[in-house]
Amino acid sequence: MPFITLEGTEGCGKSTQARRLRAVLGPDVLLTKEPGGTRLGASIRQLLLDRAHPAMTAEAELLLYFADRAQHVREVIRPALEAGRVVISDRYVDSSIAYQVYGRGLPREDVEALASFATDGLAPDLTLLLDVPMEVGLARVEARGGRDRLEAEEPTFHARVRDGYAALIAQEPERWIRVDALGDEAQVTQRVVAVLRARGYCEEQRVH
Ligand code: TYD
Repeated sequence: MPFITLEGTEGCGKSTQARRLRAVLGPDVLLTKEPGGTRLGASIRQLLLDRAHPAMTAEAELLLYFADRAQHVREVIRPALEAGRVVISDRYVDSSIAYQVYGRGLPREDVEALASFATDGLAPDLTLLLDVPMEVGLARVEARGGRDRLEAEEPTFHARVRDGYAALIAQEPERWIRVDALGDEAQVTQRVVAVLRARGYCEEQRVH
């Protein structure tokens, strides 16, 4: 069954859309997320986002994201795909390329080697980029308050992440679909559902 991922920069509304999709899509679709899609992952997520760890190295950060992912693939994603369900993950390997390679400057070949080990080669069939201008995303994060360790990074970091996504799309355009994430939440959900329906990945037409 298809494995679909959602990606985007800070404040793009990805988590809101994942929550809305859960309500709109049928029970055959499994919605999950990284980091934190498993019990172990929830603990790893806390470590990753906690601002009490300003000294965390880029390498340690990368390995924690991949520890979360290795568990997530084996405990949640693979079993669901094998059971015939469509799986949608809020973030996956592309986040590590955008944030840890483009954002932090780690070598891409090392991250790709790690990705193949951690995921056992499981790659998404389709990836949706929820696209908002960086300023809009960062303003939303600001308005929400209580920024986590990644959100608190300087604007130049977030600009590199955004450039990373643009590079990923250019390198593999057939896998990616850019969804305009400006506008009200229901409209954005409608756009996402339209993409999934066009691919035959969901039948549900109601958007609340
Ligand atoms: P997420 O829960 O998606 O946060 P948000 O809803 O704010 O986008 O992801 C948490 C943070 O982890 C986010 O700042 C992106 C970052 N991240 C990486 O840096 N690398 C990764 O591999 C993943 C999965 C996430």
